[in-house]
Amino acid sequence: MWLAPIFLRRKRRFLLHSDLPEQSRRKMNSRRDFLKNVGLGTVAASLVRPALSWAAEANSQAVPGKEGMILRSFRFLDLEAPPEFLNTWLTPVPHFFVRNHMFEPSSLDAGEWRLSVGGEVEKPLSLSLAELSKIESHSVTNTLECAGNGRAFHKPQLPGVQWEKGAVGNARFTGPRLADILKRAGVKATGRHVMFRGLDEVPGKVPPFVRSIPIEKAMDSDTLVATHMNGAPLNKHHGFPARALVPGWIGAASCKWLTEIKVLEKEFEGNFMKPGYRLPNQPVAPGGSVNPDDTHPVTALNVKSVIATPNDGATLRGRVVQILGVAWAGEADIVKVDVSTDAGASWRPAELGKEQARYAWRTWSHAWKPPRAGEYTVMARATDSQGRVQPETAAWNPSGYLYNAIDKVKIHVQG
Ligand code: MTE
Repeated sequence: MWLAPIFLRRKRRFLLHSDLPEQSRRKMNSRRDFLKNVGLGTVAASLVRPALSWAAEANSQAVPGKEGMILRSFRFLDLEAPPEFLNTWLTPVPHFFVRNHMFEPSSLDAGEWRLSVGGEVEKPLSLSLAELSKIESHSVTNTLECAGNGRAFHKPQLPGVQWEKGAVGNARFTGPRLADILKRAGVKATGRHVMFRGLDEVPGKVPPFVRSIPIEKAMDSDTLVATHMNGAPLNKHHGFPARALVPGWIGAASCKWLTEIKVLEKEFEGNFMKPGYRLPNQPVAPGGSVNPDDTHPVTALNVKSVIATPNDGATLRGRVVQILGVAWAGEADIVKVDVSTDAGASWRPAELGKEQARYAWRTWSHAWKPPRAGEYTVMARATDSQGRVQPETAAWNPSGYLYNAIDKVKIHVQG
């Protein structure tokens, strides 16, 4: 059994899922479906027993601390929340999705860890965790969503992780402001972009997960080097001991296991900035192709709501059905969520939850009395402070980013 992880690593080294021929992709997808269906405990015990100090517990039940999540990939851990977990203002860490492009660091000694700050700065820094924790900290409640969340719903279908609704979560992140760290280092006038590098273990020749953000967003008082999530130190899946937190932007901007911050004169040029994580400048017909030079980096999130309950396909009884969900809008605010119980023929406003914060989602609810037994299509549609409204069909793009079509579930109400 100890050979299994080594075998898996060697065999698939150098390949990204989207690089694989269609047949192999199908095989990998069916392996994922298999992993999803057989239950995580069996999988962890039988297929993978990584020789990682952190992952020594991986042969116990499921992914410890992440029970109930949908396993989208085990090799590079990708976990999605089932829709019914998306019904609280703060997502408990066990229910928070995980997205890794590479292997998580196999071991990380907090005592040895350092964060270097260099590039276009007057005074390069190398901070220990103890030094970082002495810098004044700030908390931001932020909805983190993977740019590829909802990719599975795009038509025609696209390669890549087949996320449905749950590559999203809302948490309170705490740590020093990135601006305070950059001010200590003294950004030169030539510094226009800020690059992050994490400590992921890069398989073979796959390019490292390195990206950059513009200096304006880096200096924003809500952009953090977060060390805590929901009041506890970040855990290994979410970037221990420190991650970037770029609020309102796609999750890819928030680099985990941060080890290097580098101020650059221009945007970082690497696989995860170009061709990765870009949107076409012009609308593109579903299935169409796009010239990479006619694209721009994906930054802020879309307006979007999802229905947490009832579940798609549910059979319900009772006089009142509680329709619950969450809605978010990146750097904008949610102003309303409308619910339809007749497949979009009519809409009623949902009640928004009381808790709110600048980059955080709003919970919403709607108590509905079904007029009679039968089949119903329930829909949710969010509107934000920029006047954006969730569309009926999301804008298709070749990477399947920012899916935000009106959410719908079909339910059966018994008499
Ligand atoms: N940072 C590093 N170092 N490596 C990664 O693979 N994935 C990014 C981002 N930061 C990633 C990373 C992506 S694509 C997303 S959506 C978020 O982390 C997910 O954060 P989470 O796993 O804490 O939910």
